[in-house]
Amino acid sequence: MDSFEFNKIAGAVLATALVVFGLNELSGLIYHSETPEKPGFLIEVAEATETPGEAPAEATPAVSIGTLLASADAAKGLGAAKACLACHDFKKGGPNKTGPNLWDIVGRGIASHEGFSYSDGFKARAAEKWTYENMDAFLKNPKAAVKGTKMAFAGVKKDQVRADLIAYLASLSDAPKPLPAP
Ligand code: HEC
Repeated sequence: MDSFEFNKIAGAVLATALVVFGLNELSGLIYHSETPEKPGFLIEVAEATETPGEAPAEATPAVSIGTLLASADAAKGLGAAKACLACHDFKKGGPNKTGPNLWDIVGRGIASHEGFSYSDGFKARAAEKWTYENMDAFLKNPKAAVKGTKMAFAGVKKDQVRADLIAYLASLSDAPKPLPAP
């Protein structure tokens, strides 16, 4: 191998190395990866803004829950129910978590799930059952509906989203309760 040949090879190797390094630098410039400020993802549980003891402001005239449920979609409600999963298990025979298990909740006695320690606000209503109506009021604004509840959840304000969610909750039963009249 004469020195000219050697130079050619060495030159080629050097050029390749430069290109590789160059690309690396360049892609670093183009695809700059941001490190997120907080690792993982946030589960936002918004707090109710109403002052305790004050009646919540009614923004729109209420449409009856029967009317809303008539066009509700339980499959869509599953989406809204994801917000509950942080604290509630939905399965038959499932455990209590931060909140009680919610299988067959429509028609069930309020504050009646075995093994769950309810707040005094809930215990005071233990003689009642969960209906579509009181469930609607509770999920719209938990803290206003049951004074002193320890359910730290602001509520689902959009009527149709809430109706979809209630339709989903009602489907969690071996014998779903009939919908109220529109
Ligand atoms: C941050 C936790 C948390 C989230 C999120 C949450 N809950 Fe709750 N929930 C609770 C707790 C705690 C209780 C018990 C309340 C008490 O004793 O005051 C409860 C009680 C309930 C009850 C009454 C159960 C019974 O046995 O009487 C229902 C119904 C309910 N939640 C529905 C929901 C739905 C539907 C969602 C989602 C839209 C939701 N919760 C989101 C914590 C939560």
